Amino acid sequence: MANILCIGAGYVGGPTMAVIAKTCPEHRVVVVDANPARIAAWQSDRLPIYEPGLDEVVRAARGRNLFFSTEVDRHIAEADIIFVSVNTNTKTFGQGAGKAADLQYWEKAARQILENATSSKIVIEKSTLPVRTAEAMECILNSDSSHGIHFDILSNPEFLAEGSAIQDLEQPDRVLIGGRGTPSGQKAVQTIVDIYAHWVPRERIITTNLWSSELSKLTANAFLAQRISSINAISALCEKTEADVTEVAHAVGADSRIGPRFLQASVGFGGSCFRKDILNLVYLCEHYALPEVAAYWEQVIKMNDYQQERFVSNMVSAMFNTVAGKRIALFGAAFKANTGDTRESPALAVCRELLDEHADVILTDPYALENAAEDLGEQAAHVTFEPDPYAAAAGSHAIAVVTEWRQFAELDYEAIYRSMVKPAFIFDGRNLLDRRKLFGMGFNVYAIGKPPLTHFGAA
Ligand code: NAD
Ligand code: UGA
Repeated sequence: MANILCIGAGYVGGPTMAVIAKTCPEHRVVVVDANPARIAAWQSDRLPIYEPGLDEVVRAARGRNLFFSTEVDRHIAEADIIFVSVNTNTKTFGQGAGKAADLQYWEKAARQILENATSSKIVIEKSTLPVRTAEAMECILNSDSSHGIHFDILSNPEFLAEGSAIQDLEQPDRVLIGGRGTPSGQKAVQTIVDIYAHWVPRERIITTNLWSSELSKLTANAFLAQRISSINAISALCEKTEADVTEVAHAVGADSRIGPRFLQASVGFGGSCFRKDILNLVYLCEHYALPEVAAYWEQVIKMNDYQQERFVSNMVSAMFNTVAGKRIALFGAAFKANTGDTRESPALAVCRELLDEHADVILTDPYALENAAEDLGEQAAHVTFEPDPYAAAAGSHAIAVVTEWRQFAELDYEAIYRSMVKPAFIFDGRNLLDRRKLFGMGFNVYAIGKPPLTHFGAA
């Protein structure tokens, strides 16, 4: 039996530890966080994050071998294995501002471990970190050998996606564990392999050196985001040539070397990680004097910014070059379906740009309105938050679909059309809706990477 601790009860720490606790009943798992409101929510019936299947997993283990606490120091002292899953946002100040990862929370956690440890421990990087961060952590943690305590640092990055986190954790494509080649390092790796082997087939557990593990995480996110930027770049060309991006993606993805997933053209990718991890990769390349490599990856971000701006420009030009004073219903606030998370959400980027154009924005989303209001900050005062999509659309000049919630595909668009100002517009930023059907109802329909369907004659 091991005492497992996770520092950081966020989108990764909470679900990951809940799955470990559920599948390893002999181990005691404690998740700590500096934020008491977050811990209180994990202890309640209303968990702090919305994630399909999470409630059941937490209910199965909480109070049995899964505990949530704010007592960070005490639990560090008791732990044998410590996962560190704290935030590693982009730095906003000083050297590397706007690109480098802000490592202050990681370093603070490491120093807290050092201060409170009374026995040797395995410390695991669960957060996404720049390659060679483990070296700095080893320096900090093993800086004082007088007390006879030794720390083994491992890298075990997380590949879950929000909205499918429980499925991704229960049936991962792979688990990656990086460690030192020393006897102590290899023993630590084996300890963590044994935990995952409770439910992950052994051949899916990959062990590597520390640096490969750290870099694989950044690379995986960069490759995923690159596919989206690639198909989004093609969507712009489709709109000029009457090619249909869905047909192109299908034809391209049918090549087994390319594969069909992550080729869904959209208003752009969002989420807390793609942007920050690619910027971090760009910063690392610049740091190691590889400007061509840095520029190559930076283009993935530039294309994503372009796609979001292009979506709003298309809206403005389609609506006779002005949206000022027009009521626009934004369908979606979350950065993708099945999550309440709005971090880096393209929906909020579109919302901000429409506010700049003096549009009257009504935001509707089944789970993300609270987070959206918080993320919009002062601008939230200029937005109407409306949980009912029918009420959001009523009296609007246009609907923009910016999150691909299934609910939005299942609405009665005949009724919605009747309730809107004419001519009525739909801008489908997710290619979620049946555009021909909507056109038949009277809508002017603009979808990503497809020829517009309008009732304005030759125009
Ligand atoms: P998050 O912001 O939701 O959670 C991090 C938590 O750590 C916060 O609640 C914060 O209060 C807490 N924290 C920070 N310093 C602390 C300290 N010293 N002591 C106690 N608590 C502390 O972040 P997240 O989305 O869970 O991401 C965590 C890491 O995992 C990041 O590095 C991220 O890149 C990576 N990651 C995230 C996802 C995802 O889907 N969100 C997926 C894979 C990897
Ligand atoms: C992503 C990765 O998929 C995870 O493997 C990784 O662990 C995680 O980042 C992380 O490190 O944080 P996540 O951001 O939760 O997960 O969600 P994704 O499903 O990857 O979607 C990201 C964004 O891309 C969303 O805005 C989504 O709508 C968009 N997207 C995705 C597209 O526009 N088109 C696609 O074909 C796929």
